[in-house]
Amino acid sequence: MELFVTGAAGFLGNAIVRSLRSHGHEAVGLGITDQDLRKVERAGGRPVQGDLRTKEGLETAARGAREADGVIHAIKISHRAAPGVVETDVAKRQVLNLKALEDWESVDRNSVSAMLDALAGSGKPFVYSSSCAIFGNTGTAVFNEDSQVPAESVYGTWRAKHDRMLREASSRGIRTVVLRSAMIYGPHPDGMPLGRPDPANMHQQLMDKDAVGYLGKGDEISTCVHVDDYADLFVLALEKAQPGSVFIAGSEDYSRKTLALALSHAYGYRGKTRSWTLEEAHAVLGKGKILDFLFENHRTTSDKAKRVLGWEPTRPSLLEFALQEAKRATRP
Ligand SMILES: NC(=O)c1ccc[n+]([C@@H]2O[C@H](COP(=O)([O-])OP(=O)(O)OC[C@H]3O[C@@H](n4cnc5c(N)ncnc54)[C@H](OP(=O)(O)O)[C@@H]3O)[C@@H](O)[C@H]2O)c1
Repeated sequence: MELFVTGAAGFLGNAIVRSLRSHGHEAVGLGITDQDLRKVERAGGRPVQGDLRTKEGLETAARGAREADGVIHAIKISHRAAPGVVETDVAKRQVLNLKALEDWESVDRNSVSAMLDALAGSGKPFVYSSSCAIFGNTGTAVFNEDSQVPAESVYGTWRAKHDRMLREASSRGIRTVVLRSAMIYGPHPDGMPLGRPDPANMHQQLMDKDAVGYLGKGDEISTCVHVDDYADLFVLALEKAQPGSVFIAGSEDYSRKTLALALSHAYGYRGKTRSWTLEEAHAVLGKGKILDFLFENHRTTSDKAKRVLGWEPTRPSLLEFALQEAKRATRP
């Protein structure tokens, strides 16, 4: 099959292109900049230029969807100065984060609609990258595909709507599949430590000059998945999933303290970590929903993906991967 992949220069999209190629498929990967296009090419895909914020970009996506045998959609909008750069002004960072979420919602809605219209009646697959962040705090429970998505959540309200739009589009003759991922780690096309998984962005800001921080005891539990294992699930979904189905991806539970330890190795801090007080964290991260995230559990199970699609994660665990990165960085 030849697949049209959006976000193909990104952390996840680039791994999807690699996985498609290693499973004998072709990938046409959308990127914005020349640098993006080179990353798509390096992963083994055929690059195509387009910015989904523009009319031309949406037309390119619709054409890409029509000409391909299916679509994988994996974009994310982040307003950051440059890869790896952390905005140190708390208020400015919060404004940027909220603006990014808003922009992401509208660009995602417009691009999904354009590609669904292009695929209507074709029976082709459209695999959509969603996130387990839509569940918010899972407390002591372990969430699965049947778990209720809360009506309101900072990361989830629009995402849940888009998930629904995808699932409902299966009635228009499109084999739509929604994949929801836990935190993702693994090799990043820009070489960012651990791959810049989402909650790690916050821990990254809790850094002293020689230790990575976590809040309080750091014993909140979340689930994570290696990017290459997750990318393989996209290929399985393309090949086997039923129209309108949803799958969760996650292969390991970790504590916030373990994430700080993994980051510490990956950043060359030799495993040094430190517990931060809430007041210290407020000074760096500000108050509010974003900080709450660090005190929450986000536990999910991927039993369904294993049972129905035969998914078998095999890549190194979070800590193993961090130690490998640390070793690579110190090798002469
Ligand atoms: N990372 C995680 O831990 C995690 C966890 C759960 C789910 N996910 C899901 O994984 C997906 C991808 O996330 P990621 O971590 O791979 O993000 P990422 O590394 O930032 O990649 C996103 C890609 O989308 C591209 N993009 C942004 N705006 C675009 C536009 N207007 N037109 C065309 N392309 C555009 C970006 O290009 P530029 O870089 O040039 O802007 C980038 O290549 C998202 O659906 C996200 O929710 C990620």
